Amino acid sequence: MCGIVGVVCKENCCDYIFKGLRRVQYRGYDSVGICQKAGESIQIDKTKGLIDKLIEKTKPLKGAQVAMGHTRWATHGEVNEENAHPIAGKNQQWVIVHNGIIENYSSLISQLQKEGEIAKTQTDSEAIALLLSLNNFEDPIKNMLWAKRQLKGSYAFCAVKKQDKNCLYAAKYKSPLYAYCNGEIAMVASDPICFPQGDYYKLEDGQMCKVSDGKIVFYDNDGNIIYPSKQKYKKISSDCDKDGYQHYMLKEIYQTPEALARLAKNFLNTNFDKLKKVKFNKVKLIGCGSAYHSCLIGAEYFKKYLKTDAEAAYASEFRYSSEIINSKTLCIFVSQSGETADTIAAAEKAIKKHAKIVVLTNVLHSTLASLGQFVFPISAGSEIAVASTKAYSCQVAGLYLLVMALKGERSFYQSVRNVAQLSKTLEKFFINMSDFAQDIYQKNKIYFIGKGCDYITALEAALKLKEISYINCWAMPAGELKHGTLSLIERNTPVIVISTNKSVDDKVMNSALEAKSRGAKLYLISYNPPQENQLENFAFCLSLPKCCQPLKSILAIIPMQLLSYNVSILKGLNPDMPRNLAKSVTVE
Ligand code: F6R
Repeated sequence: MCGIVGVVCKENCCDYIFKGLRRVQYRGYDSVGICQKAGESIQIDKTKGLIDKLIEKTKPLKGAQVAMGHTRWATHGEVNEENAHPIAGKNQQWVIVHNGIIENYSSLISQLQKEGEIAKTQTDSEAIALLLSLNNFEDPIKNMLWAKRQLKGSYAFCAVKKQDKNCLYAAKYKSPLYAYCNGEIAMVASDPICFPQGDYYKLEDGQMCKVSDGKIVFYDNDGNIIYPSKQKYKKISSDCDKDGYQHYMLKEIYQTPEALARLAKNFLNTNFDKLKKVKFNKVKLIGCGSAYHSCLIGAEYFKKYLKTDAEAAYASEFRYSSEIINSKTLCIFVSQSGETADTIAAAEKAIKKHAKIVVLTNVLHSTLASLGQFVFPISAGSEIAVASTKAYSCQVAGLYLLVMALKGERSFYQSVRNVAQLSKTLEKFFINMSDFAQDIYQKNKIYFIGKGCDYITALEAALKLKEISYINCWAMPAGELKHGTLSLIERNTPVIVISTNKSVDDKVMNSALEAKSRGAKLYLISYNPPQENQLENFAFCLSLPKCCQPLKSILAIIPMQLLSYNVSILKGLNPDMPRNLAKSVTVE
């Protein structure tokens, strides 16, 4: 999954591409590249690493009026300059940038090889460039159509033909693609945040477009011209500034209170009448990574407050499971980006089974949102750092508000007040976690334990820390430690204990002390500071401020997010862009 941007304009096309690439970097940042075209002259620059490195090495091509750029998250082929996009076909007849996966690339490449088209990269995307170059139709749209028909998998790709005038071509199938035109500049991109001010178009699966000087022509799956003017969307602004913070991640953690306040307000203005009329006997909550963790908490809310059978599932598992889903199943899909391929595929499966589809997302113009019968914004505001922080908290709070809306009016209004109160409490609760981080950052394994929702917080805390510190982190239900994992505890192995539920506090402590007896170094996050005589068992104790029980998970995760951030910094890493990852996982 990658980010693509293409532009046709009179001058400065590089600037549009670089600006756009910065904005779609959340889709991948292993390597980056740009192709500029002036008449028949083509210049390709690419590099492993980030955009600044590309900018440094790219000289603007004189007279270039067409350009396209790519930021890569490698799926096929090593991360190196050769495999970076743009990728050229034979003699640079066609050059492409691609987002998605060409599933039949291997058979296509061997077929093409027989026709004398030899692949030079290890990528699946090269199949597109070679296919385009194979025929010399008079109308380049015919090349696009022909190539498209050979492809299996998912793609949004952008292509230029050497002998063509100042045009670029683009096609979409199961990967997002948007187009923009203001009469002077015409663009395509994986995300409308790449475009200047104004409305834009969203291409549908199978559609193509030809972008030329100040003009875009759209085509359907059979190459017929279409006029998708009704698909105009309002531009969504993107908050691309770090506002004085060293990293987006820190800024985004600190934005949690305002995001929660916004969420509460937006839910207060939402009409739930239609959703309340839906009859269901089972709830499935589906997401990936942190969103899956918020689903786990959401399932607890459904069981506790609505006494409904509810279960969370990983989207990547749900899509292939033999789960019984029918018109009486309420499927809730949770996703910050709304573009996670597994979550979208899971939603498509649920739609086929006639389930009722609810979507909770941060991006209302996303593919996932377009699949929902009921769509609720989590209102987190733009989240750029790869590690989800404020969006996770908003997902949990959003699920809480949703459950309470279904429970009844009084419960709902109380829940809105609770979220608003939490927002206020959080404003005063950004504590310094640097001493704690200092104590653990050189460790090579760290355990998190908790019970019930605290176990879910432990899962999320472990995910956050591992993804940006590269330390091996494990979360365990406190009571499970002794059933195997305890054998991994050595002298000074950190065990972070999360305990926010008074009724099981003693049980969690027992498990913690069992680990301590085997040499573990204990750290405590809790509402109830330990008894005086217990204090010495902990290297660090953090007392959380008062909060209503259902939202304690949000309060408890904030210090864990800050801890992860501090550990990442102490290790000299960039918490915003951890290795091997991308913000939006748009491939399976
Ligand atoms: C972890 C993280 C990921 C995402 C996951 C789903 O910090 O950010 O685990 O939660 O990739 O992404 P969305 O929510 O966009 O579907």
